[in-house]
Amino acid sequence: MLIVRGGRVIDPSSGVDEIADVVIEAGRIARVGRGAAAGLEASAPGHPDVRVVEAAGRWVVPGFIDLHVHFREPGQEYKEDIASGLMAASAGGYTAVCAMPNTKPINDTRAITEMMMARAREAGGPRLHPIAAATMGSRGEQLTEMADLREAGAIGVSDDGRCVMNALVMRRALEYARNFDLFFSQHCEDHHLTAGAQMHEGEIATRLGLQGWPRAAEDIIVARDLILAELTGARYHVAHISSLGAIRLVREAKSRGLAVTAEVTPHHLLLTDEALLGYDTSCKVNPPLREEADRQALREALRDGTIDCIATDHAPHSALEKDCEFAAAAPGLIGLEPAVPLLLELVRDGVLSPSRWVEAMSTAPARIGGLAGGSLAQGAAADLTVIDPDADWTLTATSLSSRSSNTPFLSREVRGRAVMTVVGGEVVYEHQPS
Ligand code: DOR
Repeated sequence: MLIVRGGRVIDPSSGVDEIADVVIEAGRIARVGRGAAAGLEASAPGHPDVRVVEAAGRWVVPGFIDLHVHFREPGQEYKEDIASGLMAASAGGYTAVCAMPNTKPINDTRAITEMMMARAREAGGPRLHPIAAATMGSRGEQLTEMADLREAGAIGVSDDGRCVMNALVMRRALEYARNFDLFFSQHCEDHHLTAGAQMHEGEIATRLGLQGWPRAAEDIIVARDLILAELTGARYHVAHISSLGAIRLVREAKSRGLAVTAEVTPHHLLLTDEALLGYDTSCKVNPPLREEADRQALREALRDGTIDCIATDHAPHSALEKDCEFAAAAPGLIGLEPAVPLLLELVRDGVLSPSRWVEAMSTAPARIGGLAGGSLAQGAAADLTVIDPDADWTLTATSLSSRSSNTPFLSREVRGRAVMTVVGGEVVYEHQPS
């Protein structure tokens, strides 16, 4: 039995935000409430099967769920493998992560999905849910065997990193995904409009002399896909939404009741293309950092629920792939460990209430992926995170469990961190103060 006592329990799934105890038994939430642990603690001292965690001053929340991470196994384990990725996830307070298929080879078969699941079981810690490829080799031509992929453990499909450009293939992929109860996460980029692009198309790109990726390349795909989602009735999800036009389209589709969802990354909520003024390759990412008007629109859309959730798009790359000319640098940045301290800024700045923040980090992604977790209701899987919202610390490469440290936020003084991560009632991470 695990008792988390006296913390601020924030559980949007049951509308709870109060000082309470959480009692966990046999991997499930047994009881939550003021005094729920009363009497039980008495049996704790010296009892090997009862652990009491004092959580006064801390937040106790359903464990975070990331719908979008890149663990590089198989193929590029020098950047990250499943074990190091899961360690980074648990240190960041994540109890479940969804791994995108752009590994080497691409996860487009049952064998690779099964291998990933097996590696995750060996590693232990957070739950790993593969998102398998929608088309073979993510080439956008031939559909994958989605029934096999689902059986092997995939919970969604995507060609992330690539967009399914052919509308007929996309229509069939949505129909197929719907039949096997998989959601479709689209990387919305018209590759014809972005050929050679290095960053967002705008004034900063002109000043830097870098070729730009116009918002239209994202908006065109979102518009087309929403039409196809309506036609097919599939569960369609916009990955890493970044432009204000795409937000408008999703808002309109939701107002008509379409089964459409969207995620936004921490970097698109926090940064703009101005971060690239020094040719900082750590800020090179797809889709690119956009302008202040987009950043504000993303924050507002996350607040009002047009954007359902936050996903990190954790994209580890080695120093070799980042310490080079801008055009040669790989796009992407790591996100799992910096997420909580960086995103708590949104609560401190009054953009999100604590409850909406937890919903965007946990309850909403659980709903979209159809996953265990996302709730501290009695009987739910005991996946939870304890946060110290006031811990001051500095993000450094040595403080990270990830194998890569490509983030522009290194050396940043931050406030707040996950101090304990619990999956299925087991403590998988505990911060050791140095
Ligand atoms: O910046 C990105 N990096 N965007 C993607 O869509 C893929 C990702 C990666 O795999 O590195």
